[in-house]
Amino acid sequence: MTQAILGIETTCDETSAAVLDRAGSILGLAIHSQDMHRIYGGVVPELAARDHLRRIEPVVSAALGDADVDRRELGAVAVAACPGLIGALLVGVSWARAVAMALGVPYVPVHHMEGHLFAPILEDPEAKPPFVALLVSGGHTMLLWVPEWGDYRLMGETRDDAVGEAFDKVARILGLPYPGGPGIEAAAARGDPTRFALPRPLMRGVESLRSGARSLNPKDRRAARDIFDFSFSGLKTAVARTVAEVEGGSPSPSSRDDIAAAFQEAAVEVLASKTLAAVVVTGCARVLLGGGVAANRALRDSIRAELPPGGRLFAASPRLSMDNGAMIARAGLYRLESGDFGGISEAAASAPLPAVLSWYPKSSDDPASGPASEGASALTRA
Ligand code: KG4
Ligand code: ZN
Repeated sequence: MTQAILGIETTCDETSAAVLDRAGSILGLAIHSQDMHRIYGGVVPELAARDHLRRIEPVVSAALGDADVDRRELGAVAVAACPGLIGALLVGVSWARAVAMALGVPYVPVHHMEGHLFAPILEDPEAKPPFVALLVSGGHTMLLWVPEWGDYRLMGETRDDAVGEAFDKVARILGLPYPGGPGIEAAAARGDPTRFALPRPLMRGVESLRSGARSLNPKDRRAARDIFDFSFSGLKTAVARTVAEVEGGSPSPSSRDDIAAAFQEAAVEVLASKTLAAVVVTGCARVLLGGGVAANRALRDSIRAELPPGGRLFAASPRLSMDNGAMIARAGLYRLESGDFGGISEAAASAPLPAVLSWYPKSSDDPASGPASEGASALTRA
């Protein structure tokens, strides 16, 4: 097996490595999830970096062993270079650079969120553009129109907390361990979502756009962004207030389950409705769900249930929805083959997606700056 590509992921609290063949099939994968952060209720950056340093060699050896590939058979080394915790990123980037140099093969720096876009295609060859993408992780919440790989049009993003961050903070408020998503999902499955009323932030106009009762005026960019942007910090505060008011501030386990269910229902409703509104205005019923929150079954089910006939939802299995080296290797393969590294080279704590553009036209009389594809005609039609 020659010319395999190695992918390394160390942006946050997973140390992961994967080996893919040139067709993009996974030959070997190892993921180590750091659990020392649990007691702190969030990731401690220095502990994360030190643990990556300790784990990276054994994790890479495990992935190579799983693949039965010798490191001298590698044809390239891809690494998530941004965004993330800088100390954690530097471990992966320094390691990948050194190994690529020693082997005399290309070093391929990748944007972590582009990795999440490439996760579903690891399991389903149909998971390719065009699609509307909802990227939901601990650090990001983005709605994108993706007419083709490498062409990313931002429709909306969070104005405050990322949705994964909201799951983590709500989990902490409810006394559940970090990361919060799986615990909230389990508690929500036991709870009654109707007992507590929680807000659905930035939802004005979303339902009427979905139903066709109103259209989107591309000239009114601010109104359009109000439809597609997200805000989760008010929802988190509403949960904190509810917890403080219930049963003298220490809710019983069943009340906690009900609060978790109400929170999950509110978050899922906002994410799903805005994604489905994006389906309406782009005219494209292919949806890709990526990032750790994509593991949430309620979110997947609620988008899938409301897609128009013929629509498709692409979402990786939970293991590949969370941070992993396979998605980084797959995005690296794309970058290597296209010869366009998207301007990424060094570790960076924050960085926009490569070549990301706004989906919105600059102004109504400047069509050249507007969306230039399937989505554009739907937008101007609307
Ligand atoms: O993509 P990811 O593994 O790491 C980042 O890039 O941030 O996403 C981690 C986030 C955490 O906030 C975690 O609570 C959330 O994904 N998450 C979930 C679920 N599993 C993980 N959120 C909701 N439901 C889940 N089942
Ligand atoms: Zn991630």
